[in-house]
Amino acid sequence: MDFLHYEKGQLLAGKVAISELAKQYGTPLYVYSAEYITQQFLDYQKELTDRKHLICYAVKANSSLAVLHLLVKLGAGFDIVSQGELERTLIAGADPKKIVFSGVAKSISEIERALEVGIKCFNVESEAELYRINDVAKKLNKIANISFRINPDVDAKTHPYISTGLRENKFGISHQSALDIYRKATSLDHIHIVGIDCHIGSQLTETSPFLDAADRILAIVDKLKSENIHIKHIDLGGGLGVRYDQEQPPSASLIVSELKKKLANYRDLELLLEPGRSIVANSGLLITKVEYTKHQDDNHFAIVDAGMNDLIRPALYQAWMRVLPEKEPKPSDQRFIYNVVGPICESSDVLAYQRELSVQQDDLLIICSAGAYGFSMASNYNSHPRPAEVMLTDEQHHKLIRQRESFDDLWRGETL
Ligand code: LLP
Repeated sequence: MDFLHYEKGQLLAGKVAISELAKQYGTPLYVYSAEYITQQFLDYQKELTDRKHLICYAVKANSSLAVLHLLVKLGAGFDIVSQGELERTLIAGADPKKIVFSGVAKSISEIERALEVGIKCFNVESEAELYRINDVAKKLNKIANISFRINPDVDAKTHPYISTGLRENKFGISHQSALDIYRKATSLDHIHIVGIDCHIGSQLTETSPFLDAADRILAIVDKLKSENIHIKHIDLGGGLGVRYDQEQPPSASLIVSELKKKLANYRDLELLLEPGRSIVANSGLLITKVEYTKHQDDNHFAIVDAGMNDLIRPALYQAWMRVLPEKEPKPSDQRFIYNVVGPICESSDVLAYQRELSVQQDDLLIICSAGAYGFSMASNYNSHPRPAEVMLTDEQHHKLIRQRESFDDLWRGETL
């Protein structure tokens, strides 16, 4: 997060003081850098000027309208997994022809709506889904563009909860059954086969799983060709990891240039990718205020106003996320090894374990790399309104992109 630095003892994001943001908008507060998002998105594109491609941002990583709108302006496509995400991307101004629809459980009404607006492609995850899409398209007198999400059975070498490309995962169609399902699809009148797809997991920090998956998928492309089934695009999913701590993931442009080499003999295929985290994670931070410090036996707690309801990654995946104090630490400060915990009545409500900090009541702490799977996974558990979100539009300007939820928002739609 190179836009964060200390100056005169306080933490700044670009030229904006974190303390000013907290004062103006309150805490907990999500803050994103538009410049960082732009730079990460363009890093995917820069190696692809000589090749037909579409970078379909995975909306689930951060689905705030302003983030989507920024990506629309940069020319992004979108990977969605629900009608809610579809409606969001459309409101943000996305061209439906640049939207691919992933997910294992697409409902009839979701399929209807996607056909009605004319999305680029359904990434089909099972035989039953294929028949359902054909039936819905027939009813609407439309032709559905589809690709199959093939499970290449490669080890993404990541946390088991976010690994999706192994045989035992619920996602995709096994690579052994791939040909069979493509053959079945050719006989359906309302299906137009346009592509092949895979996504093997998230927070991948090595290049090899991407290349292994590409090999498996290309082997299927060859077999399809020999059966006269011609596709237009190959979608290699998302999953590129980011640096939370000491990880050293390859850059997007490096991955893309390696994939480009693999695809050198497939120049007619459009290359699609579905990155989420690598575009937004390190654009974002969560500012939280210390409500209390508590020292008990050998345990030291920094009790803050953000919890697992605002940022569930540490509780759900044991994810390590950097915590920075807003006040620059001085050598003379008294420090303790703190657990940074939230207000939620669960022992797992811990944002960070065992961090050496010097903090006092009312100080601010900053949880870094919170731009992906932060707000988008937030809930109202324990009836906490969800935080506000702010965009740093450049080095010195910022604007509110989502109001803090009000108490009325908490019970909207409910009756006594
Ligand atoms: N495409 C598909 C079909 C996906 O399921 C995902 C993520 C992506 C693309 C984007 O992957 P990314 O580039 O963001 O790694 N909540 C977890 C991550 C879950 C990822 C789910 N699928 C976390 O906070 O680590």
